[in-house]
Amino acid sequence: MQWWRDAVFYQIYVPSFTDSDGDGIGDLQGIRSRLGYLELLGVDALWLSPIYPSPMVDNGYDVTDHRGVDPAWGDLDAVDDLIADAHAHGIRVTVDLVSNHTSDQHPWFRAALASPTGSPERARYHFRPGQGADGTEPPNGWCSVFGGSAWTREPARDTGAREWYLHLFSPAQPDLNWTNLEVWADLDKTLRFWLDRGVDGFRIDAAHGMCKKLDDAGPAGAADDPRFDQDDVHDVHRMIRATLDHYPERVAIGAVGVRSAARFARYVRPDELHLAVDTQLAASRFDADEVRAAIEDCLASVGSVGAAASWLLSDHDLSRPASRYGAGPVGQARARAMALVQLALPGAAYIYNGDELGLPDAALPGDARRDAVWHHGEESRDGCRVPQPWEPDLPAYGFTTGEPWLPIPVEYAALSVAAQLEDTGSTLSLYRRALELRRLHPGFTQPPAPGPPLEWFGAPPGCLAFRRTGTTLVCALNTSPEPVPLPPGDALLVSGPLDELMLPPDTAVWLT
Ligand code: GLC
Repeated sequence: MQWWRDAVFYQIYVPSFTDSDGDGIGDLQGIRSRLGYLELLGVDALWLSPIYPSPMVDNGYDVTDHRGVDPAWGDLDAVDDLIADAHAHGIRVTVDLVSNHTSDQHPWFRAALASPTGSPERARYHFRPGQGADGTEPPNGWCSVFGGSAWTREPARDTGAREWYLHLFSPAQPDLNWTNLEVWADLDKTLRFWLDRGVDGFRIDAAHGMCKKLDDAGPAGAADDPRFDQDDVHDVHRMIRATLDHYPERVAIGAVGVRSAARFARYVRPDELHLAVDTQLAASRFDADEVRAAIEDCLASVGSVGAAASWLLSDHDLSRPASRYGAGPVGQARARAMALVQLALPGAAYIYNGDELGLPDAALPGDARRDAVWHHGEESRDGCRVPQPWEPDLPAYGFTTGEPWLPIPVEYAALSVAAQLEDTGSTLSLYRRALELRRLHPGFTQPPAPGPPLEWFGAPPGCLAFRRTGTTLVCALNTSPEPVPLPPGDALLVSGPLDELMLPPDTAVWLT
């Protein structure tokens, strides 16, 4: 059964979901205590941000042991308990896998720094001599995704000349060398370790990374970026797939940021990853033409190789939809409308925790910020990472009995789970109803008809309308400033109040 093809994945940013032990940081027991909520919400699977031991320079995306659990989140028993209980609730569990890099505190990297130039210990990473007379210039001009050079010079040492190491992200995240077979063997061991424990799959971080054209010193960021999306990376994904194929019903999902739909499709060829997360929908403005183009591109891309699409509006790196699409009630309304578009699309969907509550980005004072590796002007990824509010009247809104690791704004009280649960007009109720219809309505449950999965209708300027092929389920979105006539049919679900027979601006509807 290819359950992932239309599954709803719920992304849990582990530090921010629920804290069970009062240290102010979310943990695995906290997640376990919320499984009843997740079942009520109606999600099919969880995607947990990295749970591995980490110095937390990048909140777990800097890993020191891919086969362990950081004490901040719990231990291996807590993982086993969470998987067992989630399965009892009918929810699958997938985990983030960081295979492009390790932490600079990983035993491999420490051994590399302590080993002679040219030794096998150093061959697991990318070390290069510097340029210039005394090697004080980086080996090439590559930039890190977080800003600044992608190279850091290692500390002075006794075992050889000082070299530079490559890190496409922060200096605390040295890139692994994927031409080294030990690196491959270790990933295989990691995959089996977690698969044997019962995880249902992996979200592969920076899945277009791993292999680089290091001898190409051309400017990174050019059309053919030598840092990312190199052909060799597909061999890694074939290995991942071959291992997963020994375990029934497990899924590999790539976080793939590539420059074209054709390149994107290559990641989900039949012997590679099962799904690749589309980033174009989240990158689109609230504009029907842009949204439609993103949808068409992704469907054509994955359709060309027979894979399912998978749609994401936000994650722990992006501004939340309720802020990104506009300020205040406008942003809220647009985020709700886009949720109905996303959830009507054929394929899998990812909901980032808190988006089902319509949370806006939190405005954090500079001294409260924790995302120290991101260096892009005033932007910060902390605003979308603020803990989930559960109860309006409890300290820290029920997230923790201690001090939350990021301050929770007072506006989150009215958006807490308890404040929204019984309110039929709430964003939480909208998500619950949409997920219920995905499970029950023939527009979603009918096996897909042959041919393109969507049929587009002509729509007024600033609007889009599509039907899921072979069904009566239609979704329409109005991004224009004026109300437009509703397409014919009975409204099943609307993102905001309808205006007689008109679809107001910033609104989407499901009709049958
Ligand atoms: C991915 C993650 C991001 C992390 C980066 C480095 O882009 O989504 O949060 O900082 O990889 O691991």
